Amino acid sequence: MAQKAKKSIASAKRTVVPPSPFSVDDLVKELNSFNVDNYWDLGRFLVDKVMPVARKQGMFEDQVLKMVSSHPGIKFPFSMLKQCQQYYSYYPDVKKRLLPEVFYFDLATKVDETRRRDQYEKMAVDQHWTISDLRKKIHDDETARRIDERTKYGFDLRERNVWTFENPDPRFGKTNFKGRMPGQLIANALYYYTKSGDYIVDPFAGSGTLGDILDSLPHFNDRKYKMYDVNPADERIIRNNILLTGIPEQSGSVDYLFLDPPAEYTQKDSSSDFGLGSDAAKADFILKFKGIIRECSRLLKSGGKVSIVMEPAFAITEFIDYPAEVTILFRDLGFKQVGKAYMPRRSGESMTKNQGISEMRGIKVLSSDCRELLTFQKP
Ligand SMILES: C[S@@+](CC[C@H](N)C(=O)[O-])C[C@H]1O[C@@H](n2cnc3c(N)ncnc32)[C@H](O)[C@@H]1O
Repeated sequence: MAQKAKKSIASAKRTVVPPSPFSVDDLVKELNSFNVDNYWDLGRFLVDKVMPVARKQGMFEDQVLKMVSSHPGIKFPFSMLKQCQQYYSYYPDVKKRLLPEVFYFDLATKVDETRRRDQYEKMAVDQHWTISDLRKKIHDDETARRIDERTKYGFDLRERNVWTFENPDPRFGKTNFKGRMPGQLIANALYYYTKSGDYIVDPFAGSGTLGDILDSLPHFNDRKYKMYDVNPADERIIRNNILLTGIPEQSGSVDYLFLDPPAEYTQKDSSSDFGLGSDAAKADFILKFKGIIRECSRLLKSGGKVSIVMEPAFAITEFIDYPAEVTILFRDLGFKQVGKAYMPRRSGESMTKNQGISEMRGIKVLSSDCRELLTFQKP
């Protein structure tokens, strides 16, 4: 017998010593003898015959299924084996139930909770559903659950770090304000980087988007805030020029700073700025931001955080990675980076200045279409 060609289940997990009563080759052969649509019998074989042996050898169920499904010649992918296993585990009595088997396969593989599976089964029996009715109901309920989850906090919460919002939430900020940030972006930043009781300061408040969020969303109403701007758009915003006077707050008093500086601090490459070379643009940027970041450091409590909106740019002929530059400045002051989210611009919102330059100077310029929200923590 070609013993050495056979890989035992035990050999796939070398720490487990007991000898294998069957080989993976034999197991694959047995599995392949099932019809591809014979889900329940395949599930029964896995649950009743394979798993007890595997468990005795100290293997987890998914480990066995992964090992078998990656074996050459197996006709079932892991997902299919898993579904069959679930199907039989949940409905070993499927043949005695009231609905056609396909209903139970869908319930077993699409609905995790027993209680909900039972509810769907009851509705399907009582209301004489077709399989399409069941699938539609499960799909609609899942969609509603996701929307519910996302709007639980009163805004569109993002779970991953690309934050795109086609339309700014009309509740936050002033509609015609140039440079207004979609409120959903600030709400996500507040969600991830602030906590209950925090004191928050926005030194470039613009149209007061941050204040609108903190004033109106109950999830944030236990945070206090202050907003400043060189040109206040409403009475909640205090007039202040950060470059001239810093931020008039006590040292070590702030938990979170949100910095959305004006575009002109980085977009120095329009035709009107012909005289300014890229070195000068960078030096100008570093000078400004060194001061701003030092001021942030002064205001923040130890462990406090600061988020800053930054975007790479071309200055005359050279690319300047402003997010990278600002990161260096924060790191130089001992800050640790704790977050980065990408905020692609909405369609029609792109910075157009650079395109003119590329035509004028005959060079190819890849303009930026994505801002970054960088977050740092004070030591
Ligand atoms: C990009 S906007 C901020 C938009 C704001 N986040 C919003 O959603 O409405 C930048 C703001 O910085 C302000 N600003 C520019 N230079 C400033 C300075 N030296 N000190 C304080 N604010 C300044 C501008 O008046 C502008 O309102």
